[in-house]
Amino acid sequence: ELTDLSTLLLSRIRDVADHPEPGVMFKDITPLLADPAAFSALSDALADIARDTGATKVVGLEARGFILGAPAAVRAGVGFIPVRKAGKLPGATLSQAYDLEYGSAEIEVHAEDLSAGDRVLVVDDVLATGGTAEASLQLIRRAGAQVAGLAVLMELGFLGGRARLEPALAGAPLKAL
Ligand code: PRP
Repeated sequence: ELTDLSTLLLSRIRDVADHPEPGVMFKDITPLLADPAAFSALSDALADIARDTGATKVVGLEARGFILGAPAAVRAGVGFIPVRKAGKLPGATLSQAYDLEYGSAEIEVHAEDLSAGDRVLVVDDVLATGGTAEASLQLIRRAGAQVAGLAVLMELGFLGGRARLEPALAGAPLKAL
């Protein structure tokens, strides 16, 4: 049973077959971003999660997590912190590598942006295998901050990301809108 919010959000996500490569069904959120009512409702829901989890910071994961996380942070009245792909941030960083299906990737955060006493809500568009989110939770803990939770627009349940994230979440909530 879907809520009115979930029904609205789903109606604004476009499935694109064979993008970026054959066999992949891409979830395109640009129709949602272009609809001010839907984007606003999503921002409100994410801000509610930030407040409910007692978050003091919102972390957004490059690149679509920036678009969704920033308005949520502003509405919740907390700071927004970008977690970027390696090599983009100019200051002193903490880095976390993680495995992809073929090869590996690395994400970074400015070390000074997170500290002990912070409670961090991670925001992203899609939870797929959970590798990106897991690495971000590891970065947050290595910075000495607490994990308030993880909020995503969409969870691709058949890929098992939720189970993979259980140890890294350590009881913090995972919300998929
Ligand atoms: C996508 C998506 C998530 C991640 C999910 O980002 O936006 O961040 O992959 O996959 P996972 O759960 O298997 O780690 P992508 O790497 O395509 O980056 P982009 O948003 O910069 O295009």
